[in-house]
Amino acid sequence: MRRFFKATGSVLLASMVIIGCQSNNNKNNANNQGENKKTTQNQANQAKETGFPNWGYDLQHTRHVPYKEITKDNVKKMGIVWQQDILDWNKDVPNLQEDFPVVHDGVMYVTSAKNHVFAIDAASGKKIWAWTPPKNVMDHINSLPWQSNVASRGVAVANGNVYVLMIDNRLAKLDAKNGKLLKMVNFWDHEPSIKLENRYYESSAPMYYDGNIYVGSSGGDNGTRGFVWAFKADTLEPLWKEPFWTVPERGKGWAKGKYTGGGSVWTPMSFDPDTDMMYFAVGNPAPDFYDADRKGKNPYTDSIVALDSKTGKFKWASSQVDHDVWDYDAAATPMILNAKVGGKKQKVVVEGGKNGKWYAWDAKTGKTIYDGVPFVKIQHSSVPSDESKVKLQWPGTPGGESYAPQTYDPDTNYVLIPGINSPNLMVAAKDAKEIAKDNNTFPGTKILPLPKDVDVSGTITAIDMNTGKKVYQRKTDDPMYGGFTSTATGLAFYGELGGKVNALDIKNNKVLWSMDSGGKQIKMAPSVYTVDGKEYVAVITGGTKVVVYGLGGKLKPGAVNKNAKLQGQADVVKVDPMAVYKRSCVSCHGDNLQGATAPNLQHIGKTMSKQDILNQILNGGDRMPAGLAKGKEAEALADWLSKKK
Ligand code: HEC
Repeated sequence: MRRFFKATGSVLLASMVIIGCQSNNNKNNANNQGENKKTTQNQANQAKETGFPNWGYDLQHTRHVPYKEITKDNVKKMGIVWQQDILDWNKDVPNLQEDFPVVHDGVMYVTSAKNHVFAIDAASGKKIWAWTPPKNVMDHINSLPWQSNVASRGVAVANGNVYVLMIDNRLAKLDAKNGKLLKMVNFWDHEPSIKLENRYYESSAPMYYDGNIYVGSSGGDNGTRGFVWAFKADTLEPLWKEPFWTVPERGKGWAKGKYTGGGSVWTPMSFDPDTDMMYFAVGNPAPDFYDADRKGKNPYTDSIVALDSKTGKFKWASSQVDHDVWDYDAAATPMILNAKVGGKKQKVVVEGGKNGKWYAWDAKTGKTIYDGVPFVKIQHSSVPSDESKVKLQWPGTPGGESYAPQTYDPDTNYVLIPGINSPNLMVAAKDAKEIAKDNNTFPGTKILPLPKDVDVSGTITAIDMNTGKKVYQRKTDDPMYGGFTSTATGLAFYGELGGKVNALDIKNNKVLWSMDSGGKQIKMAPSVYTVDGKEYVAVITGGTKVVVYGLGGKLKPGAVNKNAKLQGQADVVKVDPMAVYKRSCVSCHGDNLQGATAPNLQHIGKTMSKQDILNQILNGGDRMPAGLAKGKEAEALADWLSKKK
């Protein structure tokens, strides 16, 4: 995926009952909370679960919660119960856009870009504690500005601890009660190549499973060598001697040239407590678009991979795209389902790729069951290095399905897929020299601005697991960057880039409720939880606001973006817009505003007013993170850019 995504938390991340999970098997499901140490699996019993204990609710990431207070009949009575702009607590917090909050024992944990963590009373919105990474970590992150706005997609909570990944390749363990740092491990202490200076970073949430913490890697488009790794949750010592590498070491196997490799693991892995197997999605090969130095199929990029979670031993892999030249990562977290397939219950793994196709495999053997059901427009061809020869490539680099998670509703036996119907004009590097000279991220790739008349939209596709066929598909105004969470009453909640939060009747494909969130750019799937029997639906909107809905909520959606004022008060009066540009914009828009993975801004004043540009900076775009500059800095930048005519 493109960096922005990746970046702001920006790239990429679903289940229930059925799932083997839940149902009668108390090993299975939901929680990592593990406080319940007696069971060897550390899994709580779903019947007793009240929160949203894992990134995707249960270990199988079905994002299907057992809560029933909110129904198809009363959903219209939902309103905002509490809302909090995190900037009111700390004006230096970058966006939280791609955070997927975990809720445990009535406490919600949210993370922001630059890895701030907040613990919030999930019923009232009151702050319990806030954690900022230590100065040495912050200084390190800020020393390489190209990644300083990388998203942080959440935490893992288990045994009274909160686990969070640092952008600069470390895993931190905090005390869930007070937010004190208990331990931190630097990945490079155990595997010297894994460091920020080698263009590795971390943007995913870690996963807790049965006494261990599992992490994946970001930075694949920069030519890093993707991996997953496991650490003991108590000591943070590696569980496996070395990482499981998703691609060969550079110079060996198919990875030949500079910045060749890739295969990031952008989103959390799924776990099957019955077998201890784990499943994850592997990203695209690098360099993006340019393929001369990576001949062949490029395994295991754009693939789903299964391992034994205890040993890291390989079980199976299945590729969605062999030899990808379009940046078609498998990015979203796979779901593990016990679903009716062809009339019989079967344990399967399902996932949708950025290539716009959806798949199901037998969980144990990896045998393909449903092979690439298309859910967005697909029409692509080879990527030229000559700008005058570009063609629209569908899907574009945002997907298909990016990191946004699916959900599974066991009652209907439907999977819901969040789709992005959006093309790109891709330009490949001309030769290896061009790759080698560009020491930025996404070496050697270029994306041209889209013609204005292209219809960019989203889709919600329901697939019947029994047949693998589409039951319905709805078009949405905005591409679906957020994903779904479903409930035991047949509702699926999701947010949109335009700022609305909706409840879909899964069976009948009807939107039963919609409400503004008081912000834009919802790029996460709602966390649905209960506290004292009351059900809540939480989203992150407007870059930094947590907005929580429930029955009878009376609050009005808050004003969009207080960012400007808040941050502005503390800023020095004189701002050099070029310096801000160099720090915050160069990595995507290029040294000379010439554009790279983001549009050319050399004449932006012709088509955008100062106010338009300011809005873009404060709110972000569908692929550009919000809040890269704020207050006076944002204003100075908008003013400067509006004069580029
Ligand atoms: C992580 C990559 C990234 C960074 C960093 C970034 N942008 Fe963007 N920007 C994009 C992308 C991608 C678009 C295309 C539209 C969209 O996705 O919203 C864009 C669009 C824009 C546009 C609208 C251009 C148009 O033709 O519609 C403006 C203006 C802009 N960015 C300004 C900035 C400024 C100023 C900064 C620095 C504060 C910045 N961007 C930082 C990725 C980025």
